[in-house]
Amino acid sequence: MRRKLVAGNWKMHKTVAEAVALVNELKKELADVTDVDVVVAPVFTALAAVAKAIDGTPLGLAAQNCYPEVTGAFTGEVSPTLLKDVGCRYVIVGHSERRRIFQEADDFINRKVRAVTAEGLQAILCVGETLEERDAGKTFDILAAQIENSLRGISAATMERVIIAYEPVWAIGTGKTATACQAQEAHRFLRELLRKMHGVATAAAIRILYGGSVKADNAAALLSQEDIDGALVGGASLMAADFTPIVKQGRN
Ligand code: PGA
Repeated sequence: MRRKLVAGNWKMHKTVAEAVALVNELKKELADVTDVDVVVAPVFTALAAVAKAIDGTPLGLAAQNCYPEVTGAFTGEVSPTLLKDVGCRYVIVGHSERRRIFQEADDFINRKVRAVTAEGLQAILCVGETLEERDAGKTFDILAAQIENSLRGISAATMERVIIAYEPVWAIGTGKTATACQAQEAHRFLRELLRKMHGVATAAAIRILYGGSVKADNAAALLSQEDIDGALVGGASLMAADFTPIVKQGRN
């Protein structure tokens, strides 16, 4: 049985004080939730303070991005090594905002997956089609290309440190959610693809999260689907009152 994981992607929001206040609220509200992995992804500037605030709790810390080198002359960048040093256990890679705004392509994302997993951290690899691609009937082709290219050279053993997030681009921050049925269809396709690439055991073990306008009122339907193993939540992760009920709906 795959354990559910619910992650809050705080994007470019929250000062250090605001981030610590939110995580302190989450610690209280989620104290009795032991059957769901809960992860928060603050901005880089708040990672150290949030790491300290969640020390000794089951909450996990994620970075929203990284640069795929260990150390060196890469002005403005942060490596998985440094993220691990500050307390991160997860790194989000290939988010659609990075693909779109920063022109990140699959080969670069592949380097990030390799760098993150080489450091022993979990890569949360985001994939998803645009509305144009969906309307043109290309959803599965796009997902297959993103998965195959982003996971090139990753062994079945390393896949233990990979989590997939299916995030249809048209559902991110738009208030439009994929229906539970549309999401399940994409997740089933992704798991089948992973089975072909890495075998039954890896495909059965890997967690595939759904992301895109997940809210308290649609989380239950999404999280009860057979191949949906959690959620990557943006807007609704910025307040404990919104995020907590989503996490609680991930309980088995
Ligand atoms: P959203 O963002 O929940 O605000 O749609 C999800 C994401 O970008 O990960």
